[in-house]
Amino acid sequence: EQDLHEIGEIVARHAQLEGPLLPMLHALQDMFGHVPQAAIPVIADALNLTRAEVHGVMSFYHDFRKAKAGRHTVKICRAEACQARGANTLAATALAKLGVEWHGTTTDGAITVEPVYCLGLCANGPNAMVDGRVVAGLDETRLDALLAEART
Ligand code: FES
Repeated sequence: EQDLHEIGEIVARHAQLEGPLLPMLHALQDMFGHVPQAAIPVIADALNLTRAEVHGVMSFYHDFRKAKAGRHTVKICRAEACQARGANTLAATALAKLGVEWHGTTTDGAITVEPVYCLGLCANGPNAMVDGRVVAGLDETRLDALLAEART
């Protein structure tokens, strides 16, 4: 109910903006780490949208989370140069080992895997970013080590 109160305040604070939906969703995500399900009807009411429309916008922009992220976020580069250096296979292996899809979080809540599109170190790929730290030149062994470290 505390959450509902905060949701109401955030929605009210942004409702008068021009183009209020995205700033609203961002503010909610900043506050909660994801956009709580409970916020959807509140937003829909405030902006005269259907819930489906709010969901639609949330899935169109990939930055919005529907559930809490894990304790660590591993972003794997999926842009062209890293792909050419084997990032796809590496990512597929990592996802399979963790038992998640893109944007998914491991069942122990430790790791969320997100795609990222170029980290600016293309010549050194495949690259990833772990909790904001760029890790270049990954191979399967290094990625395994990173994931193991993130899980501790
Ligand atoms: Fe991956 Fe640029 S393509 S860092």
